[in-house]
Amino acid sequence: MNSKSFQEKYYVDRHDTNCYKWDSDKAKNKLPMWIADTDFKTPQKIIDSLKLKLEEGSYGYGFLPRDYYDVMISWNKKISNVEYKKEWIRFSKGAIDGICQIINSLTHEKDSILICEPVYNPFREIIKVSKRKLVVSNLINNNYHFEMDFKDIENKIVKNNVKMLILCSPHNPVSRVWNEAELEKLFAITHKYSVIVVSDEVHSELIMPGFHFIPSLSFKKYQNDIITINAESKTFSLALFNHCHIVIPNKKFRKEIDEYQNAHHIASPNAFNGLSSYYAYKYGEDWLDGFKKTVYENYLYLKKSLKDYCDINDLEGTYLAFADFSKSIKEGNAANKLYESADVYLNAGDTYGKGYEKWVRFNLATSLDNVKKACRRIKKALS
Ligand SMILES: Cc1ncc(COP(=O)(O)O)c(C=O)c1O
Repeated sequence: MNSKSFQEKYYVDRHDTNCYKWDSDKAKNKLPMWIADTDFKTPQKIIDSLKLKLEEGSYGYGFLPRDYYDVMISWNKKISNVEYKKEWIRFSKGAIDGICQIINSLTHEKDSILICEPVYNPFREIIKVSKRKLVVSNLINNNYHFEMDFKDIENKIVKNNVKMLILCSPHNPVSRVWNEAELEKLFAITHKYSVIVVSDEVHSELIMPGFHFIPSLSFKKYQNDIITINAESKTFSLALFNHCHIVIPNKKFRKEIDEYQNAHHIASPNAFNGLSSYYAYKYGEDWLDGFKKTVYENYLYLKKSLKDYCDINDLEGTYLAFADFSKSIKEGNAANKLYESADVYLNAGDTYGKGYEKWVRFNLATSLDNVKKACRRIKKALS
């Protein structure tokens, strides 16, 4: 499906639907391009299938379709060329809930956990609230292509006796799709020091032309070190359903996470919520193609239109573009400035790491018309 047909068919006015993006107090009378969800309806077949389920009218205890795991495993093999096994798969209410469970099951208070900033800010917050020690390695900005600083990562692992590393792959907000050599280098280091890797891959299906996503669990020799977080919430606009997978090849880790889940009575997925992902696997491929084309077209427009005002990272993956307004905004925080003067609501760069107050994160999962409107408003405000 091309991006024009995709937008005509699926763009939805989300005003007055109790969604944070458009309806929160801060978003009123602004053009919202913050928070990571989409302004598109999920594929029609998913909506129709869920309606049929709702129409059954009897909502007693239930379980996932018997072929759920086969369908999930085949989708991941087809889209990302990774082979999950049924016995590796567990569930959580979301990616952050899953990572919290892993932290609580496999590490102890005061243990060190490393993240690479700038990064999705809840990583930092959950490490702190779990009373673990936060260790940060800064990504290197190599002319708007962010890279991991392997030397620094290794030094910090050794110095802080790091037990766990949370990897964002693809990376929010810097839009990188880590390549095979980078991941091999990282996993060689984490393996050497017995560091558990939690690979958050919730954006893994949103890969832009010319890039290729490498799932962390496709590195067979490091499988026992890695736990993957996998969900359809970002891709298919299903965050409301709170359905996420924790994929755990390591038997010992699995046992500890099972014990944690059983102790907290959270092992069983919500069978209705899980249906949303099940139908996405069955019916989502054509929609996904149209969605990716739309995001990429939006990105190309944004980059060209704002070239005199900001520098934007290459969008390798995700629908989130990270932009540096240092050349046009000299004073204060760029997101605040654009909120006040352009009425465009963006995520502030310094949410994701220190030193990024001139950066903003654009959510491109919207119509090209909205992107054009945002660009017009920003150019007018900064001219
Ligand atoms: C990398 C990443 N992980 C996790 C999340 C949050 O996922 P969840 O709502 O399932 O906790 C987001 C949301 O934007 C994200 O970008």
